[in-house]
Amino acid sequence: MLKRTHTCGELRAEHASQTVTLCGWVNTYRDQGKGLIFIDLRDRDGLTQVVFNLEYVAGDVVTAGRGLRREDVIAVTGKVRTRAGDPNPKLPTGEIEVVGDQLEVLNKAETPPILPDEYEAEKIAEETRLKYRYIDLRRKRMQHILRTRHRVTKIARDYFDEHGFTEIETPFLIKTTPEGARDFIVPSRMYPGQWYALPQSPQLFKQILMVAGCERYMQIVRCFRDEDPRADRQAEFSQIDLEMSFVDRDDVMAMMGGFIQTLWKQVLGMDIGDIPAITYRDAMERYGIDRPDLRFGLEITDVSDHAAKTEFKVFTNALAKDTGVVKAIRVPGGAEKLTRKMTDGYSEWIKTFKAGGVPVVKYTDKGFEAGIAKFVSPIEKELVERLGLEVGDSVLFAADTYAIATKALGELRNKLARDLDLIDETQWKFVWVIDFPMFEFDEETQRWYSLHHPFTSPRPDQFDQLESDPGGCLSTGYDLVVNGSEIGGGSIRMHQPHVQQKVFDMLGLSKEEAKMKFGFLLDALKYGAPPHGGIAFGLDRLVMHLVGTDNIRDVIAFPKTQTGADLMIQAPGSVAPEQLEELHVQSVLPEEAKQLHEHVPEVVDRG
Ligand code: AMO
Repeated sequence: MLKRTHTCGELRAEHASQTVTLCGWVNTYRDQGKGLIFIDLRDRDGLTQVVFNLEYVAGDVVTAGRGLRREDVIAVTGKVRTRAGDPNPKLPTGEIEVVGDQLEVLNKAETPPILPDEYEAEKIAEETRLKYRYIDLRRKRMQHILRTRHRVTKIARDYFDEHGFTEIETPFLIKTTPEGARDFIVPSRMYPGQWYALPQSPQLFKQILMVAGCERYMQIVRCFRDEDPRADRQAEFSQIDLEMSFVDRDDVMAMMGGFIQTLWKQVLGMDIGDIPAITYRDAMERYGIDRPDLRFGLEITDVSDHAAKTEFKVFTNALAKDTGVVKAIRVPGGAEKLTRKMTDGYSEWIKTFKAGGVPVVKYTDKGFEAGIAKFVSPIEKELVERLGLEVGDSVLFAADTYAIATKALGELRNKLARDLDLIDETQWKFVWVIDFPMFEFDEETQRWYSLHHPFTSPRPDQFDQLESDPGGCLSTGYDLVVNGSEIGGGSIRMHQPHVQQKVFDMLGLSKEEAKMKFGFLLDALKYGAPPHGGIAFGLDRLVMHLVGTDNIRDVIAFPKTQTGADLMIQAPGSVAPEQLEELHVQSVLPEEAKQLHEHVPEVVDRG
């Protein structure tokens, strides 16, 4: 076999007259007729033009050359020369070509169902690309993403190694973990009727490692959560998971902020500077969401006090409710930019978030006009002052309970920014969100839930509130948000068993239940647990940002579809009845349903 001397991205004018051997895939093939065959040869590093002059090469090379087709795998030996034709400024190797002398076909390819071509890829249904992932991954962009992902993990390992972290693996076959999602479970053959659960995160193991004296832990780890995939969510995803001993919240945030700065510097060459922090309360008040996108303004303002003075039923009815509020967004220049069709559309759309509609008004040189002008004109002066209105603006309102109005306007704020093209895609707006409440009360089940997870400690000054005012008690939790996306989250944990027990009590976990589920943690905390805290970054999401995609499947070599299927290997699939028997598992599905579920659906090419 011919041995490769250079990659297909390497050769430049200075290599002219050298004899080289390249290996790769036939990207394009052109038979010019006049005894000339042109090939763009591709490997993961790039493309090089190879030309065979059939008059001057051996007979077997002519035959092989004439038979070449796209995606054949070949090796070529020949001399580098500056291009006889015009250079191609789009290719780094565009100044040269290799005049082929020897050709070895390493493997013929059948006509490929898809081509690894950026332009083509956009036209091919994603399902088809996922089915033939081994061809799709040959694309330059996909290779770039895989390399970037590799760099991110390498930079993470180096950074944390330099700061004294030890990478430690934790088991996959465990018991249920309390991250709040559904578990994937695995039947045990050896213990009939017993089940393992796959970890939703290594949370408890990393805490136990702190009790075990490891002081600084890191792991790049797969996590499993049986939830419906979304654009930025997969059931099987990866975390850069960290834990530290003898630290407080600021120590962890400083260490982790340093990591993100290093990452952005090394991958994108960007200085992101210090990462500011905002409290949960502020984030909710001003942006209506706990992961605010700070690349644009459109802040939300509470105008309940002024709204109460109007005779607008929508306002007064809302304010009569428990926690009723009226909130507003000022849209600069909105009087022109927001058409009636758009605002009518928002009123419909907002119903998804349980809000009744979006009352709107324009502010002109004649005062309020259109929409609810008649109702808000009496409070014009107050609104102009509170919202900082200028002529040409419009105001969009939400009136409902605090929870509904906040969420609805938070969503509307993001939608407005997209519709009005207010997002500067070149910006990076990082922010730590801190001072989350410990608990959230769920009206439906009438109980408290942890906002982070049940191992998050209250802020040291809030311990007293744990029981006296659980709703007002603030936690040590922190989330790292960039451009409206949560890329990491963590907290300082409870290292004293009695405080941990108190939180379990608050969450309505009986002593027996707590013992059964987390007895090992409560035990471990009794035998010398240092104060500790940590965080987990979503590795896939970090890579999404660094390569600029909003599709998580782009950054995972072998991802699952929106419906949780792997189209390449056709998973999930059925198993032999004997296998189930061995595992002491019986299917309760009727026979016909089993047939239906036997295979994930075949790919339908919608391209
Ligand atoms: P959390 O559940 O917030 O925290 O997860 C940490 C980060 O992981 C990413 N992430 C996901 N990415 C893709 N698909 C998913 N389904 C998914 N779920 C989460 C997010 C998120 O910020 N044990 C705690 C961490 C700790 O307290 O130290 C935990 O897992 O970017």
